[in-house]
Amino acid sequence: MFPLLPSNTSDPLLVQKTRALAEQWCLQYCTESSEAFYLQLTPERLQLISKEQLFGPIFIDFTSGAIEHRRKFGGGKGQTIAKAIGFHKISSPLILDATAGMGNDAFVFASLGAQVILMERSPVSAALLCNALERALSDENSHEDIKEIIQRMTFKFGDARRLTRETIKDWPAQPDVVYLDPMFPHRKKSAQVKKEMLALQKIIGDDTDSHQLLETALQIAKKRVVVKRPIKAPNLNQQQPTYTLKMKKHRFDIYIIPALT
Ligand SMILES: C[S@@+](CC[C@H](N)C(=O)[O-])C[C@H]1O[C@@H](n2cnc3c(N)ncnc32)[C@H](O)[C@@H]1O
Repeated sequence: MFPLLPSNTSDPLLVQKTRALAEQWCLQYCTESSEAFYLQLTPERLQLISKEQLFGPIFIDFTSGAIEHRRKFGGGKGQTIAKAIGFHKISSPLILDATAGMGNDAFVFASLGAQVILMERSPVSAALLCNALERALSDENSHEDIKEIIQRMTFKFGDARRLTRETIKDWPAQPDVVYLDPMFPHRKKSAQVKKEMLALQKIIGDDTDSHQLLETALQIAKKRVVVKRPIKAPNLNQQQPTYTLKMKKHRFDIYIIPALT
């Protein structure tokens, strides 16, 4: 189990909240840890710590910093990821982000008007993500428009490979789009790879079973499946997409679901 510590063990409320969080996400409550990475709950937020300080505390913040900058200046529906999803064709799609990670892409989708179901199977990512969603909703300094975006994001814990048409019957609707961005084993340790992605890769490992995700996604999506890949990576599951949109470092492979006649 992954360790979770309170930042201050003499604060009884914080200790109580840390214990509850550990129970919720099957994390190991402890007061100190010898592991290289651990989660830490502070009065402000949940964060991921590198004991050897390979990086500063990692936490998700939907209300400021890079995510907020991208929301304001990222190019709206003209950005490549929006074209890949098909915002020009489907005005307010229901998107299943089956590999939610730190929620960056999901937040972009929701800020463009989509309803997004975020699915994540790693308790570490899930705990960080849910903490960020809760903070953004409860923070009195959060702008109303950010709260509206967050309200379009619904989190589900679990392995997306297990989803079937049957298990999603109680969802508001069948997702128009299923978006996949699994960890890729050969991502280079370059400055371009964000520190949180490197940390996640170390903690979560490579998603070597991601080929199975494509099979599931193709069964569940109503209109299309979008797969984000490093630019030179082979096609997921060696399956040829309908078409591809390329960026400098990565590409979006788009699989169009044939319309029922
Ligand atoms: C590269 S990260 C995704 C980053 C994300 N697109 C973002 O913008 O922050 C991949 C994530 O997918 C999750 N994942 C991989 N396979 C999964 C599966 N079958 N079900 C649920 N989550 C999965 C991993 O745990 C990891 O957190």
